[in-house]
Amino acid sequence: MTIQAVRGTRDILPDEVGVWHRMEAAARDLFAVYGYRELRTPIFEETELFARGIGAETDIVSKEMYTFADRDGGSLTLRPEATAGIVRAVIEHGLLATDPALKVWALGPMFRRERPQKGRYRQFHQVDVEALGLTSPTIDAETIELALAYLDACGVGERELVLNSVGDRNCRPAYVQRLREALREKASGMCADCRRRAETNPLRVLDCKVPEDQATIEALPRIADHLCAECAVHFAEVRRQLELLGIPYRLDPRLVRGLDYYVRTTFEVTSNRLGAQSSILGGGRYDGLVKDLGGPDAAGIGFAVGLERLALLVPAKEARGRCDVFLMPLAPAGLDKALRLQRALRQAGVAAMLDPEGRSFKSRMKQADKLGARFVAILGDDEIARGVWSVRDMARSAQQEVPEDHVLEHLKEKANA
Ligand code: HAM
Repeated sequence: MTIQAVRGTRDILPDEVGVWHRMEAAARDLFAVYGYRELRTPIFEETELFARGIGAETDIVSKEMYTFADRDGGSLTLRPEATAGIVRAVIEHGLLATDPALKVWALGPMFRRERPQKGRYRQFHQVDVEALGLTSPTIDAETIELALAYLDACGVGERELVLNSVGDRNCRPAYVQRLREALREKASGMCADCRRRAETNPLRVLDCKVPEDQATIEALPRIADHLCAECAVHFAEVRRQLELLGIPYRLDPRLVRGLDYYVRTTFEVTSNRLGAQSSILGGGRYDGLVKDLGGPDAAGIGFAVGLERLALLVPAKEARGRCDVFLMPLAPAGLDKALRLQRALRQAGVAAMLDPEGRSFKSRMKQADKLGARFVAILGDDEIARGVWSVRDMARSAQQEVPEDHVLEHLKEKANA
């Protein structure tokens, strides 16, 4: 039996990698414009970080983590998301002391043991953006604007921004209590997850996707009607600024998100071209998390984009590799010259290639075509005798002779033009 990739993981093949380069380059270029710098954290952490950071009652922590005993008995977990690790690193290195308005972004693989389906994997990649130490609603609007600008930079136009406020530690407990009371009467007719969550974590009931439960959930009390004055003012200002920036959104009082650290603003961007897993990115405010994890009392807000999902929406680019110059030594005596020229071109950053198999002119021309070569440099007996190369410009179907001692400069210039 041949060994296959682990269920829920996937290879990113050379034909797809152009799209990944585009998503990565767009992140690097765009986030710098908004003042973000990259931060890289390890892909595994102490299990407790996620239990405390994300919440023990969430699906992620209770069902989906890849947790293993280290050889010395400690418990480690492959990161299911980036925020907790970033906050840990920010605290550990005291980054907020030198930069009280800290903007960082990260990119890498995350791990969740979910049921695999289109757009849902057990190893997937996120681009993650976090702004720490900023409480103003302006940063909420800016973060959302940045999330959409990133999708624009990746060429993804069609999408919907969904927005909510989940209140804060002042007003949410009272709302959750109301929800719990409302659910006491109704939970017995709901699915098993809802019945359990009605007591343990009633907010999670709002996430339920079971069709038969939807009418009951729609009739439950809404957080928007129970925000305290500070949260209501904050949310109104976020919405006003989004409107000012011309960013359309849809309010969804059920958008509580699957992680417990959120307060106030939560948001997601969805696409109807993705099927069941329609969320391209999600995020929100998490004031309180830095303090909960042992750091200063600093605010935070951010989002993460699922790159496998985004890749499904990014217009495919030319998947072919790059070939600037295809070298064709036709006479055996030309091979050494061609090898030296190939090396010199590559050292100058020109994508040069030659076919060392010594096939016919016709089949090599076909190969040059297939590779998308921009120039072909031919060295036959005739050229050797006269000390020249024949250089063919493939796009213009024009051919010229170039003296041997000029050919490197000539090709460098052409390839970089
Ligand atoms: P999240 O909503 O759990 O948020 O994940 C963000 C995005 O990651 C999703 O919208 C989705 O595109 C992608 N994603 C999640 N799970 C999978 C999966 N199994 N397979 C493929 N893609 C997936 C967070 O992770 C938060 N840390 C975001 C955040 C940052 N909030 C504040 N700062």
